[in-house]
Amino acid sequence: MKVSVIGGGPGGLYFALLAKKAWPRWDITVYERNRPDDTFGFGVVFSDQTLDTFKAYDLVTYERIRRRFAYWGDVDVVYKGRVMRSGGNGFCGCSRVALLNILQDRGRELGVQLRFQREVHALEELAGSELIVVADGINSRIREKYKEHFQPSVDLRPNKFTWLGSTRPLDAFKYFFRETPEGVLLAHVYQYEPERSTWVIEMDEPTWRNFGFERKGEQEMIETLEKVFAEELDGHPLIANRSLWRNFPNITNKTWVRHEGKTSAVLIGDAKATAHFSIGSGTKLAMEDAIALFESFRKENEVEKALKLYDTARREEVEKTQHAANVSLAWFEHLKRYWDMEPPQFAFGVMSRSKQITWENLELRDPEFVREVHRWFAGKVRDQGFEVDLDNPPVPMFTPFRLRDMVVENRVVVSPMDQYSAVEGVPGDWHFVHLGSRAVGGAGLVYVEMTCPSPEARISPGDTGLWNEAQRDAFKKIVQFCKTHSKAKMCMQLGHSGRKGSTQLGWERMDYPLESGNWPVVSASPIPYHEGVSQVPREMTRGDMGKVLSDFERSTKYADEAGFDMLELHMAHGYLLASFISPLTNQRSDSYGGTIQNRMRFPLEVFRACRAVWPQAKPMSARISATDWAPGGLSGEDLVALTRMLKEAGCDLIDCSTGQTVPHQKPVYGRMYQAPYADWVRNEVGIATMTVGAVTTPDQVNTLLASGKADLVALARPHLSNPYFTLQASAWYQHLPQFWPPQYLPGRDQAFRNAPRERAEQKDLRIKARPASHEVLEPGAKRAA
Ligand SMILES: Cc1cc2nc3c(=O)[nH]c(=O)nc-3n(C[C@H](O)[C@H](O)[C@H](O)COP(=O)(O)OP(=O)(O)OC[C@H]3O[C@@H](n4cnc5c(N)ncnc54)[C@H](O)[C@@H]3O)c2cc1C
Ligand SMILES: Cc1cc2nc3c(=O)[nH]c(=O)nc-3n(C[C@H](O)[C@H](O)[C@H](O)COP(=O)(O)O)c2cc1C
Repeated sequence: MKVSVIGGGPGGLYFALLAKKAWPRWDITVYERNRPDDTFGFGVVFSDQTLDTFKAYDLVTYERIRRRFAYWGDVDVVYKGRVMRSGGNGFCGCSRVALLNILQDRGRELGVQLRFQREVHALEELAGSELIVVADGINSRIREKYKEHFQPSVDLRPNKFTWLGSTRPLDAFKYFFRETPEGVLLAHVYQYEPERSTWVIEMDEPTWRNFGFERKGEQEMIETLEKVFAEELDGHPLIANRSLWRNFPNITNKTWVRHEGKTSAVLIGDAKATAHFSIGSGTKLAMEDAIALFESFRKENEVEKALKLYDTARREEVEKTQHAANVSLAWFEHLKRYWDMEPPQFAFGVMSRSKQITWENLELRDPEFVREVHRWFAGKVRDQGFEVDLDNPPVPMFTPFRLRDMVVENRVVVSPMDQYSAVEGVPGDWHFVHLGSRAVGGAGLVYVEMTCPSPEARISPGDTGLWNEAQRDAFKKIVQFCKTHSKAKMCMQLGHSGRKGSTQLGWERMDYPLESGNWPVVSASPIPYHEGVSQVPREMTRGDMGKVLSDFERSTKYADEAGFDMLELHMAHGYLLASFISPLTNQRSDSYGGTIQNRMRFPLEVFRACRAVWPQAKPMSARISATDWAPGGLSGEDLVALTRMLKEAGCDLIDCSTGQTVPHQKPVYGRMYQAPYADWVRNEVGIATMTVGAVTTPDQVNTLLASGKADLVALARPHLSNPYFTLQASAWYQHLPQFWPPQYLPGRDQAFRNAPRERAEQKDLRIKARPASHEVLEPGAKRAA
């Protein structure tokens, strides 16, 4: 087969050599516009894990890479005069040109044709090739030329960065943060060979403008940056190499494959998709694309089938890496949000920013680093007046938290979950056992499902209500049981279903109208949820608002009488109050529509009315949909404005959920996927937050709390399969102060006895599963050839 590769970067070269090794009869030529030793930039980094993947595919290149690379295990976060070191990370770096030379040599030895100083302008120039691998990098000319076909999308990120070098030797990967009168700058720095280090310098656009970098030439830029980082450079110069200021382009392509006549073309590497440099994965991604493409040809003989397989099988992995990179870059873009954090929390936030590294994997790498964060967190809790043992500090999830006079024993929350099992709104035996067992299970706070202030406010006929004394008394019985037999605090969630009301039970056709017996529904605007299927809601009049307001007030009083410790108003998921907040569902032209101030008017009226009758000592929260995951929905500015308004109205906690406003939403799911919103609100608005959504392990709970993304962590579905999530975690972390009911103490003793052994076994397995760690060189030391 005749194969042409456009671009002799790591992606193109690696595919060429793997393919030539496996199929020596293939005629493979790489076209590269530069000379063999020309290169932009300085070093590249790989993790131990990436190196192990290369080892499995070509031992020769792996060994050569291994010999040329500098290794290090530590990451230093240098912030406000403190160096927080986290060890055991296992990275290696080498110069880009050294990597390219290794790949070129290996390609040549195997018989790959390398044509340097040959620029390809169009696929037609390579007619006669059955396969053209387009590996021409981030500014891919080929992708742009055929953009109607590949349908690229380029999202230019707001921060400015430039890629520089220095002679300064370093013993760790360093993040240097610097505050200047112009703004905050950050350098991502690592050594890649003796006396050579890469310095990627990044800042937000206002800082960049304040420095006047748009007017400064390269020399002046270097001089300015050398002054800013004088201490970190320790007398060494910065070195430029075509070091322009750029905005990182986040690139994706709708399709990666193009067939024209007998020629098929396929995008790989940066031409296909980019991943922000802060997770150091660009070169890895390009080389792993090469592996994936190679694997597709191993599985499929025909070009078309192989490329189809590549486009489908590889996409998920690429999207996952891009997602992690996007979460990571967002952390750096919002640096200001974290600037008041103290060094241990800040450093933990840097390390765990992409969600790939959590509390427990950091502990595995460097127990002392985690212990320090741990002690710091416990110290902060003690400063708030709690008794906390600092010699043996509890993990963050087992620290208490106060909202007004309510103190929760730990930070785990059972998220509200509609059981669709009430009769006439009265909670029954099911609710008694369901809520009772979740309280016994040890969570610090247990939410009751969305409970409705009137019959017509219900989502379904199975919803609980709080509009009469029978309902109040049934709840009272549940609350009394929970308070007698557990230490859980109890929160009532009040909500009105709005346009999503009069619908079927959760396990039937959720959000679809009842087959019979529907009641009329109201909303901010007369827009049905499912066009043509759902009822068209009546636009609420001022009179309707008054009625709903007094219904909420009545339910609030009943919630207090039933003994609840806390009250939450449901302003999320497209229900009535949410329908006022989102511009997608509120198209009113009166004073309740338009600006966010107007759209919040009715939800705030309800909030204030409830706050006025709810006891001052008891806290109140609001659940919001922090984004609608749909174009034209709630903006980031709206989010900040509305949570500020709630804070001013006396709200103690924002429960940050997302979406469910419109059926055409496109959420980006993933582990802890809603946490960025709790983080945003907590650290920009300065109010306590609760996060929820795809949090499944105690490790994640600790990570979210320690990094300051939220104050409480709610779990819904995990509590359906395991009410004892918290009790089990207390055994895992040997946290004896956690309350266990006396009836269950023999179970506690056994769990506490077994947990250390299970933990040790798991740790052992994880250590064994880790990629082989590579020898760490002293800074500046040379490796024997
Ligand atoms: C500031 C910064 C820091 C980075 N740091 C790291 C890091 O630490 N670790 C890491 O792994 N990655 C890092 N990267 C990313 C990394 O450089 C790229 O992701 C990686 O090189 C992509 O490989 P590639 O083969 O797809 O493309 P490239 O390496 O860009 O190679 C494309 C090649 O195609 C050639 N070419 C282009 N057009 C044509 C044409 N028309 N005809 C012929 N030849 C052509 C180019 O000359 C080039 O040699 C960083 C990137 C930036 C911007
Ligand atoms: C069966 C079920 C019922 C739910 N009912 C409610 C509810 O009444 N009120 C509410 O705010 N959220 C409700 N939710 C959403 C959850 O509280 C939670 O936000 C969501 O499930 C994401 O968390 P998880 O990934 O831990 O499940 C419900 C979720 C489930 C699974």
